[in-house]
Amino acid sequence: MVQSSNAAGAKTPDFHIDPEAYDRMYAQSVNDPATFWGEHGKRLDWIKPYTRVKNTSFAYDDVSIKWFEDGTLNVAANCVDRHLATRGDQTAIIWEPDSPDEEALHITYKELHTQVSKMANVLKSMGVGKGDRVVIYLPMIPEAAYSMLACARIGAIHSIVFAGFSPDALGARVNGCDAKVVITADHAPRGGRATKLKDNVNQALLHDVDDVKCLVVKRTGGQIAWREGLDFWWHEEAARVSADCPPEEMNAEDPLFILYTSGSTGQPKGVVHTSGGYLAYAAMTHEYIFDYHEGDIYWCTADVGWVTGHSYIVYGPLANGATTVMFEGVPTYPDAGRFWQVCEKHKVTQFYTAPTAIRALMGKGTGPVEGSDLSSLRLLGSVGEPINPEAWNWYNENVGKGKCPIVDTWWQTETGGILITPLPGVTKPKPGSATKPFFGVTPVILDDQGNELSGATEGVLCIKDSWPGQMRTVWGDHARFVSTYFEMFKGYYFTGDGCRRDEDGDYWITGRVDDVINVSGHRMGTAEVESALVAHATVSEAAVVGYPHDIKGQGIYCYVTLMDGVEATDELRTELANWVRTEIGPIAKPDVIQWAPGLPKTRSGKIMRRILRKIAENDYDSLGDTSTLADPSVVDDLISNRAALA
Ligand code: WT7
Repeated sequence: MVQSSNAAGAKTPDFHIDPEAYDRMYAQSVNDPATFWGEHGKRLDWIKPYTRVKNTSFAYDDVSIKWFEDGTLNVAANCVDRHLATRGDQTAIIWEPDSPDEEALHITYKELHTQVSKMANVLKSMGVGKGDRVVIYLPMIPEAAYSMLACARIGAIHSIVFAGFSPDALGARVNGCDAKVVITADHAPRGGRATKLKDNVNQALLHDVDDVKCLVVKRTGGQIAWREGLDFWWHEEAARVSADCPPEEMNAEDPLFILYTSGSTGQPKGVVHTSGGYLAYAAMTHEYIFDYHEGDIYWCTADVGWVTGHSYIVYGPLANGATTVMFEGVPTYPDAGRFWQVCEKHKVTQFYTAPTAIRALMGKGTGPVEGSDLSSLRLLGSVGEPINPEAWNWYNENVGKGKCPIVDTWWQTETGGILITPLPGVTKPKPGSATKPFFGVTPVILDDQGNELSGATEGVLCIKDSWPGQMRTVWGDHARFVSTYFEMFKGYYFTGDGCRRDEDGDYWITGRVDDVINVSGHRMGTAEVESALVAHATVSEAAVVGYPHDIKGQGIYCYVTLMDGVEATDELRTELANWVRTEIGPIAKPDVIQWAPGLPKTRSGKIMRRILRKIAENDYDSLGDTSTLADPSVVDDLISNRAALA
């Protein structure tokens, strides 16, 4: 076994596996997945053990994914109850508030059990039962975890909406899954400012369905508008209900949650994850990839509004009986040393964040990192977008002090857990590469015609066979699930990512090949921003593309054609940017708006985004063939307008 060590030189535990074990386990996982996962599914507590492990098909006319299909379990019991006998007094969640002046909380497994059970009983008293949907619209506070686990306990399906989303975006999701209850807070403090979450809920619900009940967590005590008979305070209800709520027996394939994510077309779709396979996969990847051991203090800086927060703040770590840190704030508040101060304060052993955060902090120099004692750190992680070698090296040298393995984890909302990643103790570091597949994962690189390419090559990344954490369907629209992921390349799961494989067989993700952009690790459909823009009275047409941005990875570049007679002013530009911000949320605010008297369209009316991307990148030499355009002269206009912008 390979020894790991931390910066302090303290004796640290063995890695779970070495290169030989990886090869052996990987081979079994793909050659005989039923045996492999049959064994590893046992890491969960089953009420009725499964006898059938894998029943999956990627065949286009028969896409169906079932794991452990005859087993029953309860996810909350796996994340909480089963730890009570051995680690009831151990901290399950360390909560670090937005302001360092407010006290951190240490919530034990016993306390977590009480809170989750009470929340479950409150939900029941509000009429929520097995299979009902609950929307969670909360800041990063312990109640977010209680809510998720309370739903799991009673078999309700949660759908978390990131607290940065607008009332409209929230409303669309509440209606999309027909939620019975929304759980929210009065205000959400973040970076020293507060968002009025409950007001957003009121606006969202008033637009859409106004009989949705609301459970409100008092976070700040700030002013809110109350809807008598529909709104309930969490602290008041909690005082009324018992802390005894037996967990519901659920089938492995019963939905655990819905999470809306952006695609290349249309409105966001509700990704559905189920119970047994998802939890087994989240827990196993958490243990192996983050080298998780007893006694570790593990911190993932994501928000529970994204899948990373689901799998690697809540479900994976808690299923493993870990201590997981939940951070309410932002990396730069009150100053650029906050992440490192929190690492020192809680003696964090594993730290998992996004390249955009690393790049933002890099810009502040090494002073803020050097101000904190980071000797407890043993492993670093990265997720959300390709990490550029400069950021990787900075992270490695200044945060990891050259001694922590870095896991660059590639995965998606749809995959439920990490699919391609280095493994500590196994993989030689290679800055910028996500390296090798996790157990059971069969990546392939295809050309545009769908031929599998071998050896060192580049193309589109697909996955050949199912893994337990895979999404099962799109909520309410199975046909969309099939057409989005299985139609383009028949027989494969299509990831939407481009990818290169090098001579060592290591994978390098090159970014999306569809109309999805990645802004600060947040995924956005260009179509969503376009539809927000054209909803403005002055806009006749809009086309949105991503362009390289130093900190965000990609920025949002919008080409806007105004209605006849509307004057193209700087004030209007600002108004449109703010309009998109209110329609979708701050993360969708355009970085650049360029006036476009015309857009480059083919004779059949299709916008040629390739050209728009090149112009946004200031790269006019490789525009390619523009002769098929209905009106090639629009390109010259766009180029001269671009020059005027720069
Ligand atoms: C897309 C999925 C899964 C957690 C967060 C994002 C990009 C994600 C990496 C990485 C290169 C990455 C891909 C992917 N992506 N991780 N380590 N290297 N690209 O989840 O919002 O569903 O976005 O993020 O393009 O398809 P998501």
